[in-house]
Amino acid sequence: MGVSPLQLGPIRLETSLLLAPIAGYCDLAFRTICREFGGVGLACTDLLSPQGLLRGTATSLDLAKTNAFDKPIGMQLYGSDPEIMAAGARWAVEHGATVVDINMGCPVDKVTKKDGGSKLLTDLSRAVGIAARVVKELESCALTAGEWSARLGAASSVAASGPVPLTCKMRLCWHDADYHAGRACSPHLARMLADVGVVGVTVHGRTTEMKFSGEVQLAGIARVVDEVGGRIPVIGNGDVRTPQDAARMIAATGCSGVMIGRGAISTPWLFRDAWSFLTTGQVPPEPSLDEKIAMIGRYFTLMRQQRDDRYALMQIRRRISWFAKRLLTDEERAARVGCKPLKEAIRTAADAEAVFASLDAFRCGGLRSAPGMDVETESPAV
Ligand SMILES: Cc1cc2nc3c(=O)[nH]c(=O)nc-3n(C[C@H](O)[C@H](O)[C@H](O)COP(=O)(O)O)c2cc1C
Repeated sequence: MGVSPLQLGPIRLETSLLLAPIAGYCDLAFRTICREFGGVGLACTDLLSPQGLLRGTATSLDLAKTNAFDKPIGMQLYGSDPEIMAAGARWAVEHGATVVDINMGCPVDKVTKKDGGSKLLTDLSRAVGIAARVVKELESCALTAGEWSARLGAASSVAASGPVPLTCKMRLCWHDADYHAGRACSPHLARMLADVGVVGVTVHGRTTEMKFSGEVQLAGIARVVDEVGGRIPVIGNGDVRTPQDAARMIAATGCSGVMIGRGAISTPWLFRDAWSFLTTGQVPPEPSLDEKIAMIGRYFTLMRQQRDDRYALMQIRRRISWFAKRLLTDEERAARVGCKPLKEAIRTAADAEAVFASLDAFRCGGLRSAPGMDVETESPAV
């Protein structure tokens, strides 16, 4: 369907699919397993507090962790003070960012009460002022060709030496009423951001008032695409859970890239599948059960290495429902066979050995509920 890899400023990505920031989920270990399946053009850290980075607080540094394999990487900053955001952007460049992103979409009170995240959609001059200041800062710490090569990842390329580019991630606007009256600010904001040197925008097709419910408004994303008129790429985002959803989003909006968040948490191979579908019309065979179990074990192992056993156990307990959504075959699911016993075993696992033993038991055919006894209806919470 004529989809090409995404060009973000000077950088040509391997694909046009991006892993979204999902605070508490899209950590280095998770980004690694998505990248290992393939298809990820760019991944992003969860939102980072520039003050936390500059003060060197342990939480911020953990969230900003990256490595040579985790490239290309976007580092996402939130806040409302142009000078602090600029200092945060410099920090990100000095710590391996391939792209810096500004969060203009977070609806959470903790962020909006301090005028950051999607609160910026209510004060466009502030939003554009922050972006302009960050672009200027990035220009003052441009990378040499050698420095670029270390942060591109094997499959991406860069046109020349120069600054790390800036992207912004936004929602359609704050109020539902504005969107429905045709007064969403996102088209206008995207155009102004392009004017000050932002190289791409991601649009989550919901208003702030919608939070994460209601249907994604593809028409709202399409309006942003129309308004920027090809000057910078627009990346569509929201509710893409299958390769076909990605194709639909591109067809309906004309966006140049697709960002996937929650869909990837249960299906880390979704980028591989979606890219294959977009470029060849074929979806590769689903990973085998052994491969899926190995993937969960690998996530857990990486988490133990990157953090510690306590944190890794906490993460695997809260994530197992997500992973479990795609563990069984269609036939087993049709027979209403579930993985409740596996989920319970992992949630109550006292230590790492118990997690690995449960995964192994499941792989060998155990820890499944009997046909008709269990239906995977629950929607795991994020
Ligand atoms: C629990 C949670 C945390 C999120 N954290 C971030 C974040 O740190 N930065 C951000 O830009 N978006 C964040 N988002 C929004 C996602 O990046 C994405 O825009 C949204 O979930 C819609 O895409 P999806 O349907 O593919 O998940 C978060 C979403 C959820 C559900």
